[in-house]
Amino acid sequence: ASSHGEGPFIAAIDQGTTSSRCIVFDKDGRIVSVDQKEHEQIFPKPGWVEHDASEIWTNVQEVVIGALDKAGITKADVKALGITNQRETTLLWDKATGEPVHNALVWQDTRTDALCRELGRNVGQDRFRRETGLPLASYFAGPKIRWLLDNVDGLRERADRGELLFGTMDSWVIWNLTGGPDGGRHVTDVTNASRTMLMNLRTMAWDEKICESMGVPMSVLPEIRSSAEVYGEAKGALAGVPVASALGDQQAALFGQTCYSEGEAKSTYGTGTFLLLNTGHEAVNSYNGLLTTVGYQIGDDRPVYALEGAIAVTGSLVQWMRDQMGLINSAAEIETLASSVDDNGGAYFVPAFSGLFAPYWRDDARGVIAGLTRYVTKAHLARAVLEATAWQTREIVDAMQKDSGVELTALKVDGGMTSNNLLMQTMSDFLDAPVVRPMVAETTCLGAAYAAGLAVGFWSDTDELRANWKRAAEWTPSMDAADRDREYKNWLKAVQRTMGWIE
Ligand code: G3P
Repeated sequence: ASSHGEGPFIAAIDQGTTSSRCIVFDKDGRIVSVDQKEHEQIFPKPGWVEHDASEIWTNVQEVVIGALDKAGITKADVKALGITNQRETTLLWDKATGEPVHNALVWQDTRTDALCRELGRNVGQDRFRRETGLPLASYFAGPKIRWLLDNVDGLRERADRGELLFGTMDSWVIWNLTGGPDGGRHVTDVTNASRTMLMNLRTMAWDEKICESMGVPMSVLPEIRSSAEVYGEAKGALAGVPVASALGDQQAALFGQTCYSEGEAKSTYGTGTFLLLNTGHEAVNSYNGLLTTVGYQIGDDRPVYALEGAIAVTGSLVQWMRDQMGLINSAAEIETLASSVDDNGGAYFVPAFSGLFAPYWRDDARGVIAGLTRYVTKAHLARAVLEATAWQTREIVDAMQKDSGVELTALKVDGGMTSNNLLMQTMSDFLDAPVVRPMVAETTCLGAAYAAGLAVGFWSDTDELRANWKRAAEWTPSMDAADRDREYKNWLKAVQRTMGWIE
């Protein structure tokens, strides 16, 4: 049970890349309980990453029950349920049985790289950028749908017969929550739809021409709705509770960090890292390798847009050091190991495991460790691992300043890696700007809870939510400028070494 009063409460499900969780929040936006469950990462070939969507749905149901139990409450105490999710991860399932027809293709999966090059032939990587805000890259959902329809036996015919549904994880969870084959709502929200490469950013509707060029039949696509409205009522353990929000996890974090004004930005450190800048009601085109995306839309209000810098590999590099390399026993140990030396010993680690995302968008890149000598120890590598996250952030911030003309005064951060003090200090040093973390670092679930709460009138407006944001920690720069410049140059040199690896 909790010390957070009588409720009522809002629950949020975060269906993430490595785990699913459910968090119960009280009216002040404080955490009452958390339950979490990891799911299997399936790597069938180099560059391929899949998830078993049935396992994910089972886990989601379990963590919802788990979180309610831990809070000592029942569904009657839950005013609304919000959904947030790993974005772009692509699933097709059978409408009649609810069975996935293939594992989900995860956002990190690069199998569509050749297809993306083919789609861009004679036109270039920016073929659909004006409409969708995105460059052609294996990251996004549209080409993943096309790959499944082209490569899995019988799927194209089944899609043409109207037997299949497509969804990112928000759609999959909402459809199942609201009844599955028995009346489930097949919907997505504008933020998730904006990552498919099939939605027109200005009209917020599926773009017929792009769907045709991409070879995706519109009959499989969900209905596009706002990020905060009641999509339907839950069945099962939460029977009767309104399902009232959906946002991609990064947009949810922007919302949870209360970045409601133009010019406000946050950076979330999870599997990957995603820096989003609120650009107001204007969809700003990027000329420096950033994405234009939907930030959120509350009911019938005008949508709010964002510029995004996406980094594919940050926390997952630490996991890789632990699981694949066995150099550390726990993720937390990376900090201890890295702190045992004063610097990187000359080593630079560019984790281009899924190609390079922002600002390069190179599917042909693969990871490198540069600058190795006999001197380098695993402690230096640990340091290079943390510096990789900080330098990649710096590159995004530079691109954002070029696109927006706004100087960064401070960076609001959140996510699992922000408990790493050495990383946060390094980040502040490399950015030459303060880094600040709020009290509730679970901003992803918080943002989904806020949106759901707004949809059902649990909170009245965003001003009320802003009042909940409290600073917990701040790091300020203390690095010599000449050192910073030298190190940045070396980093950029190492980045160049990753490109063109895949022919
Ligand atoms: O675009 C991918 C992103 O949504 C994944 O976020 O936190 O699950 O790594 P996360």
